[in-house]
Amino acid sequence: MITLSNKHAFQFMVASGALAFDGRGWPWEWPLRWMGLLDPSLFTVVTKTLTRQPRPGNLRWTKPWQVVKRLPHGAVNAIGLTNPGIEWWCREIGPQVASYPWPLLVSLEADQGNDLLEMIRMLEDFPIKGIELNTSCPNTTTEGKRTLERTLKICYAAKRATRHPLLLKVGVTHDYQGLSRALTGIVEAIAINSVPWGVVFPDQPSPLAGFGGGGVSGKVIQPWTWKAVEELAKLRQVPVIGPSVWEYEDIDELFRLGARAVSFGSLFLHHPWRPTRLVRRWLREH
Ligand SMILES: Cc1cc2nc3c(=O)[nH]c(=O)nc-3n(C[C@H](O)[C@H](O)[C@H](O)COP(=O)(O)O)c2cc1C
Repeated sequence: MITLSNKHAFQFMVASGALAFDGRGWPWEWPLRWMGLLDPSLFTVVTKTLTRQPRPGNLRWTKPWQVVKRLPHGAVNAIGLTNPGIEWWCREIGPQVASYPWPLLVSLEADQGNDLLEMIRMLEDFPIKGIELNTSCPNTTTEGKRTLERTLKICYAAKRATRHPLLLKVGVTHDYQGLSRALTGIVEAIAINSVPWGVVFPDQPSPLAGFGGGGVSGKVIQPWTWKAVEELAKLRQVPVIGPSVWEYEDIDELFRLGARAVSFGSLFLHHPWRPTRLVRRWLREH
């Protein structure tokens, strides 16, 4: 089993997208980090997803709220994997990784075969703790392309190409149980992505309808993500990481459902200091 955290028997993770491309967070979060109110070293951090080439996606830094909308208990986003590309990461971030006091995993968009293998090779010599294969961004590839067979092929090819442990990021609309059954020994853990708007709110138009609807995250998707956690845990195959933590009690509930680790995603967007506060309290009380 991958060592997901450097300090704790139980593991806490930061979901892709929450703390930028390195775990230091987005610039507006830096003051919280400097004040100790946001402590990345309590977590194993997954970077925001990278692609082989820089990708503009839908995010414009001057108008981020155009494609990220807060909901009362969550968020919907249609960023579409805006990122500066793997070469930028290898040049600017990779050489710093050893100095970060948190374990870092790199998230890669896994929908494009040869690009993925090339990215994996580029990461080979960096002291990262693993690679997350994002096969489930709700804002990019059409769902029809994401068959069980295709995802398995991606995972087998990635496994052959790297010495790093692999995590797989699935969607609740995918055959995650089939994946878990077939991937024991290939991936170390399964993480769960945001849920397409149309699944969560079938009768309501999305505020991001112009961008395809977007992916919903946070407390509001617990009925979907936690069902997946429970089903995956019951299989006793690949360990599952429980998402959508919103309240303190959610952490123990996820462990009770069988999650091996819990991850914090859009809670960082709503209350960037709260994941640190919740984990500190959990460590005090356990
Ligand atoms: C603003 C934003 C950006 C995100 N970016 C990524 C990303 O680049 N790659 C990815 O795999 N997931 C991304 N996600 C999804 C999260 O990693 C996480 O899977 C999702 O929010 C569900 O977890 P939560 O309910 O705890 O928020 C993003 C989510 C949000 C809200």
